[in-house]
Amino acid sequence: MNAPARLLIHGASGRMGEALLRLWADDGNVQIVAAVTRRPPPQRVVNGVPFFAASELGGVPAFEVAVDFSLPEGFDRVLAACVARGAGLVSGTTGLSEVQRAALSSASAKIPVLWASNFSLGVAVLADLVERAAQALPQWNCDVLEAHHIHKKDAPSGTALTLGEAASAGGHQVNYSSIRAGDIVGEHTVQFSGIGERIELIHRATSRDVFAHGALTAAAWLKGRAAGTYTMRDVLLGHLSTVR
Ligand SMILES: NC(=O)c1ccc[n+]([C@@H]2O[C@H](COP(=O)([O-])OP(=O)(O)OC[C@H]3O[C@@H](n4cnc5c(N)ncnc54)[C@H](OP(=O)(O)O)[C@@H]3O)[C@@H](O)[C@H]2O)c1
Repeated sequence: MNAPARLLIHGASGRMGEALLRLWADDGNVQIVAAVTRRPPPQRVVNGVPFFAASELGGVPAFEVAVDFSLPEGFDRVLAACVARGAGLVSGTTGLSEVQRAALSSASAKIPVLWASNFSLGVAVLADLVERAAQALPQWNCDVLEAHHIHKKDAPSGTALTLGEAASAGGHQVNYSSIRAGDIVGEHTVQFSGIGERIELIHRATSRDVFAHGALTAAAWLKGRAAGTYTMRDVLLGHLSTVR
């Protein structure tokens, strides 16, 4: 068996960061060597994992892949740290600007990068279904409806935009609707409406653990890859190729 991938978690105190720190020990393919937050806890080592402030990123121990679930404000610094160290970057941070997306694309000439709006297997399959439905129903209206917890900052969600892109492959002008309420983890409905009939494709995430497991799988997969841009479809290809 290969040595576990040495990971840095960026955004470790957040909802996703906490899930990653809780789940990694059950995954023999990864090892967390550093956790980074804006404001690290006073004790600095929690369950054997050393914590660092974002301003200390230059001095963290050697890592092979950074897993970033933070906010756009923190993204530039973790991307620069990965390029400086020649490490890979797995990021699920949504709401990135055009400039940040361009910087990610440039960095992929030097390091392997994988950004995904959603790390669940179910949404990867849903995007595939949406693309096929959109191509089969070119005259129908397409709406993407999404619901998330009240703390989510960006709208429409990154996942909604990814599903919209899948539908636009069929030439659709996609309309988006967003709900922010309670503690909803993440729900996405892609609705194709014709005259007298309608198709609804729905994904409901009931636990953040599906995203955390997907991100850890992606990080182990990215370790040692050549520089370039990768997608969850690349990680899950074996599974997805059996879906059609
Ligand atoms: N792709 C997916 O599958 C997926 C799934 C869920 C969420 N997300 C996205 O992942 C991101 C995080 O979500 P969340 O719910 O975990 O958010 P959250 O609970 O608000 O946590 C944000 C984390 O980022 C840190 N942070 C904020 N500003 C920072 C900065 N300038 N530098 C470094 N760290 C900074 C915070 O540290 P402090 O606590 O010290 O402020 C905290 O650890 C969001 O963009 C969300 O949309 C993606």
